[in-house]
Amino acid sequence: MSSESGKNNGQAILADFLSRLESGNARVGVIGLGYVGLPLALLFARRGFTVLGFDTDPAKVAALGRGETYIHHIPAESIREQSARFSATTDFSELTTVDACLICVPTPITEYRDPDLSFVRQTAEEIGRHLRPGQLIVLESTTYPGTTDGDVLPILERSGLRCPIQSYDAVIVSPEQCKEITTDFLLAFSPEREDPGNKKFSTHQIPKVVGGVNAPSALAARALYAAGFEKTVLVGSSRVAEMAKILENTYRAVNIALINELKLLCLRMGIDVWEVIEAAKTKPFGFTPFYPGPGLGGHCIPIDPFYLSWKAREYELTTRFIELAGEINASMPGHVVEALSEALNRRRQCLQDSRILVLGVAYKKDIDDLRESPSLRVIELLIERGARVDYNDPYFPRLPKMRRYDLGLASVELTPESLGQYAAVVIVTDHSSYDYEFIARHARLVVDTRNATRSLRQYNDKIVHC
Ligand SMILES: NC(=O)c1ccc[n+]([C@@H]2O[C@H](COP(=O)([O-])OP(=O)(O)OC[C@H]3O[C@@H](n4cnc5c(N)ncnc54)[C@H](O)[C@@H]3O)[C@@H](O)[C@H]2O)c1
Repeated sequence: MSSESGKNNGQAILADFLSRLESGNARVGVIGLGYVGLPLALLFARRGFTVLGFDTDPAKVAALGRGETYIHHIPAESIREQSARFSATTDFSELTTVDACLICVPTPITEYRDPDLSFVRQTAEEIGRHLRPGQLIVLESTTYPGTTDGDVLPILERSGLRCPIQSYDAVIVSPEQCKEITTDFLLAFSPEREDPGNKKFSTHQIPKVVGGVNAPSALAARALYAAGFEKTVLVGSSRVAEMAKILENTYRAVNIALINELKLLCLRMGIDVWEVIEAAKTKPFGFTPFYPGPGLGGHCIPIDPFYLSWKAREYELTTRFIELAGEINASMPGHVVEALSEALNRRRQCLQDSRILVLGVAYKKDIDDLRESPSLRVIELLIERGARVDYNDPYFPRLPKMRRYDLGLASVELTPESLGQYAAVVIVTDHSSYDYEFIARHARLVVDTRNATRSLRQYNDKIVHC
């Protein structure tokens, strides 16, 4: 195989990559060791690969070096067990030593809801500086269609190495067809579908969608993931794979907005939306249940659809479902505060100067992730309305600074005395570790956004579902 730019035959590059995989000598690099990258790195290490993790955060790299975890649902033992095969570094020159490099860096939005691809671009520049012929690069970060071949590829090609865009048919593509293409390196997109804290599906059980920039890239990426995952799904381009991921998350955002809107209507009509959903979901086909709540949170559902609506503008299209869903979901924290205010009014109390306890600040139950959490907005709105707010969350002893939120609060203990001090307790995140009977017994008023107290009918006179 020649290492001269533009002279590498696709079939030979692919064969070389596959033989490294089969020999067990392939080294896998994972860039970005967060909620997505760390489990992925550990998965490939468990499969026997030598895995090198890269992160710009020296504290994370040092913690991993000591065999410590910084993500609650990833036990330290799972890191220590892989210490012979998995190590982490901040030294990106080590990129030259890996055969495959999986990019798992953040893809947030700016305050104007535009995509912020700066982490992806910076990573592509770093890889480009160390790129060598035959390497496979896979973007896993969620992003709009066209990022892999339109943003990442041109940056990587500044190295002088080439990876031409070429269409292929995902059903019939074969190594034989790769003879027709000359490529120096391999580039693909494979969306991450990690659901942190989900005990039903571990990383390797979630089918891995893979789309290449050209046929050898697609086949190399599929072979790599087949070595780690139970099932791979090859699609006809990196753009299809990018769009599939955004479709999944837009589908969730829109359906959650729909059920949030129906909840508001049900509340006005005196109908229990939770009972409605339980009844509707007995239909064995054509209905998937979604549940209302205090608003969207996390790094994905509130953000990813806006990557698509931003891209759609380039094609002079307005993605109205996405905009409307965003509007409805973003209004939910305000609805929670209104419901609390009304409940206090009915008790001849007002929000101003009342002590309010917010239960749960993580964006969903049983995880230690605060990103885009609706609790932060609920707390902010309560403070704006003059309430004196405390919170409890077993996963967050202190509230770290998050974007514009710098609340400087610390988690308070839940005791009969402390609960009784508050005019109301608002359940925003329904962690499984909470004893809801204990909470309802000692609280003066409970505002429940998650249906966590549904079975506690004996306390109905002091529980408000909203
Ligand atoms: N968290 C999820 O549940 C989830 C699920 C599916 C997809 N995703 C997507 O996966 C991607 C990563 O998300 P995450 O939740 O793991 O984020 P994260 O913030 O938990 O982790 C990202 C890591 O990348 C590191 N990093 C930042 N810039 C870097 C750089 N230039 N080079 C190397 N490391 C860098 C950060 O220090 C951090 O450790 C995002 O695109 C996200 O949308 C996330």
